[in-house]
Amino acid sequence: MALKHFLTLLDSPPKDLQALIRRGIELKAMQKQGISHNIFHNKVLAMIFAKSSTRTRVSFEAAMIQGGGGSIFLSPNDSQLGRGEPIEDMARVLSGMVDAVMIRTFAHSDVELFARYASVPVINGLTDDFHPCQLLADMQTYYEHRGSIQGKTVAWVSDGNNMCHSYINAARQYDFTLNIAAPKGYWPRADIVQAAGDRVNITTDPRAAVENADLIVTDVWASMGQEAEQAKREQAFEGFQVDEKLMALADKDALFMHCLPAHRGEEVSAAVLESPQSVVWEEAANRLHAQKALLEYLL
Ligand code: CP
Ligand code: NVA
Repeated sequence: MALKHFLTLLDSPPKDLQALIRRGIELKAMQKQGISHNIFHNKVLAMIFAKSSTRTRVSFEAAMIQGGGGSIFLSPNDSQLGRGEPIEDMARVLSGMVDAVMIRTFAHSDVELFARYASVPVINGLTDDFHPCQLLADMQTYYEHRGSIQGKTVAWVSDGNNMCHSYINAARQYDFTLNIAAPKGYWPRADIVQAAGDRVNITTDPRAAVENADLIVTDVWASMGQEAEQAKREQAFEGFQVDEKLMALADKDALFMHCLPAHRGEEVSAAVLESPQSVVWEEAANRLHAQKALLEYLL
């Protein structure tokens, strides 16, 4: 079988991405019924985290344990990566010992370089540019509540960041319309937008973006690595909070998602986050099931 990586959603054909949703739902049902499986028997996942994480770490680790395998947590502080060992060397060394590697880091090019030298599947657990694993969970969550997302309208109201880029790729792969609302200067990368063609619309008006939308998504205004820009971004994003007034403009059956961690009172109001339209806790829990399906697919 050819070696598969998962660095962005564009690495897998749409039919495989659809199959991952179905398998995620199946694995979730098995978990709820207490049916155990050994899909990762004797398999080991190495996880390199150069940025903080709660959901990504716990979901991958739990997935490996529940499937009869194991995982190893590595950070630059306690591995030789932090002391300058080349990525190319680390990729070849880990490939000789584990069955897959998950990486969360800053530069997306580092994950690409790692994958070029790895001989086991490499998973992007978030870079400055993309967060594809989160999209698997989001797409599964939408499917569970509302069925196929094909032809629906999703509104992204936040920074044109890693999550936004992955939503753009998802619009291509799952075939939905994506309206992005962000202040000028915080728009997603032009090449990523262009590649999605007329599926993606960009505006500086959050109200226009959410009108009649089926799913409203937001994320923090300052991502990991941008902490020093927090105050400047709070100013730039004034008027972009997803609150009840904004949600009221969306379709009456619209769902609300946020990859979390959320900043109540900034990008989302506490009322929306805790509203019946909000599916954020299931969205987070689905990281576990979606990534089990992903690991099974790649391994
Ligand atoms: N959504 C997400 O990736 O969360 P963590 O940063 O906690 O992993
Ligand atoms: N855009 C956020 C996502 C966190 C899961 C960040 O990169 O910090």
